[in-house]
Amino acid sequence: MDVIRTKAALRARVAQWQAAGEAVALTPTMGAVHEGHLSLVRLGLERADRCVATIFVNPRQFGPNEDFTTYPRDEEGDLAKFRSAGCDAVYIPDPGQMYGTDYKTEVTVTDISDVMEGASRPGFFTGVATVVSKLLIQSLPDIAIFGEKDFQQLAVIRTMARDLDLPTEILGAPTVREADGLALSSRNAYLTPREREIAPSLHRAMIAAAESVRTGAAPHVAAEQAKRDVLAAGFQQVAYIDIRSQDTFAPAEALSENLRIFAAATLGSCRLIDNIAV
Ligand code: PAF
Repeated sequence: MDVIRTKAALRARVAQWQAAGEAVALTPTMGAVHEGHLSLVRLGLERADRCVATIFVNPRQFGPNEDFTTYPRDEEGDLAKFRSAGCDAVYIPDPGQMYGTDYKTEVTVTDISDVMEGASRPGFFTGVATVVSKLLIQSLPDIAIFGEKDFQQLAVIRTMARDLDLPTEILGAPTVREADGLALSSRNAYLTPREREIAPSLHRAMIAAAESVRTGAAPHVAAEQAKRDVLAAGFQQVAYIDIRSQDTFAPAEALSENLRIFAAATLGSCRLIDNIAV
């Protein structure tokens, strides 16, 4: 497995594989690799001949009071996990490869970036769209894979790639969960043992809300009940629990096709997000 630290070397390696007729998948991550990330690599290797993972904790997608400095970092451990999953290369850009001292350009996807995560975390989706567009342009892969756990992020990236005419197909991969339903996330490492016991109640409340919409409850009523359930279980704050169209993100008024329930809530120092289909 190659470890690549410059954009020139990354572009050359991917182009070399493509020139030999091999399709290349890219799986961008911020490291702190878990089974969810490795499922993206495995999907990449099913759909393409080569898979390149990236590790870059992107400062532009963290707000001033967020966890950029404390975000878990473990380069050696991450490399071992990517190697065991069969990755062909890992791109770990040196500082300066992504944002030089005179860096000035941002990528913003309007409209779908404005609700839920975008409303709760101003600037987050601009940071994501900017770094992902740079990673795609630096590598020009055939496909790039992102987890559906960050469903709104996946939609923002798909829209960005389409609108900027990037020659890469964007694929979503299903959320990987612990046995008790908790969606895997690098930030789960922040949970204390007691909080870890409480955490799956978010997923349980979402399942109950989805079920009540399917059996006739109004979406906003089901979502309000889910918020009460999550707070009663011990979460300190609910940023949102919304039932929306998974295509347009318009709020749902009644049961229809393609609805999803989206949630973000705080437990101790950990902000958990999740989504499931209704
Ligand atoms: O989902 C993530 O880990 C990040 O937002 C991403 C897509 C790697 C961009 O930094």
